[in-house]
Amino acid sequence: MDVNQVAWRYARAMNRLDFASALARDAGKLAHSAFGRSVTTLKGRHDLVTAMDGEVECFIRAAIAARYPDDALIGEEEGGNGGERVWIIDPIDGTANYARGIPHYCVSIGYVERGEPVLGVLYDPSHDWLYAAARGEGAWRNGARLVVSPCAEITAATIECGWSTRRSAADYAALIGRVLEAGCAVRRAGSGALGLADVAAGRIEAYCELHINAWDCAAGIVLVREAGGLTNDFFAGDGLTTGNPLLATTVALCAKLADVIGIPMTS
Ligand code: IPD
Ligand code: CA
Ligand code: CA
Repeated sequence: MDVNQVAWRYARAMNRLDFASALARDAGKLAHSAFGRSVTTLKGRHDLVTAMDGEVECFIRAAIAARYPDDALIGEEEGGNGGERVWIIDPIDGTANYARGIPHYCVSIGYVERGEPVLGVLYDPSHDWLYAAARGEGAWRNGARLVVSPCAEITAATIECGWSTRRSAADYAALIGRVLEAGCAVRRAGSGALGLADVAAGRIEAYCELHINAWDCAAGIVLVREAGGLTNDFFAGDGLTTGNPLLATTVALCAKLADVIGIPMTS
């Protein structure tokens, strides 16, 4: 699709959530057309990027610029600046999985107004799952309402501990040690955005990461909050532009996990 076609396709969308949902689905289908076979290079150690990351980001940028020309946009591949109304996009979250043909990745589109995350949409092409949430309106997957896990026992909880080379191996090993010592099960599945969606869907009890960027989690934070969960104040300070630690969990486990993991819950 060229820019004019993109503008026409999304011009009739009713509101920001419908727009973001349609766009995430189309972008995910584009990504999936080269699943496991897009040309891959390294941005850094264990930090993969595929040709499709750039292509999908361009596609999303063109659509947002056509429909909401006055909004700001920050994307993982091309950057950008904040603003009063800002879209935060990760064209492919879980790139290492995507590049290796592991079907656990998604397109993530978040929207923040005056520093408050208000919309979040993820599309998981491998399962044809569209996650969508808007502040005050609930969180949904393919039209079914999402609710966080009812589990209240930390020893029965499964926690995803996200990892990147942005923090030291020693800090990550210490985190895993604390979570295991507390009696939790640990996993790392390679997509922060889908980890948050799993918290929102009640499939795991928490997601944490010592440092994560806004494009990985802006959409997922809205999903978790709208499914009845809590997150720390990720957007505090320069979170939008330089990232922050993240903890997303249920009300029942929040205090204990904040203590074990060492990320204070302030909102
Ligand atoms: C990464 C994934 C990973 C998370 C990292 C992110 P990418 O994003 O979300 O699960 O732990 O912090 O950088 O590189 O797949 O877009
Ligand atoms: Ca990412
Ligand atoms: Ca990415």
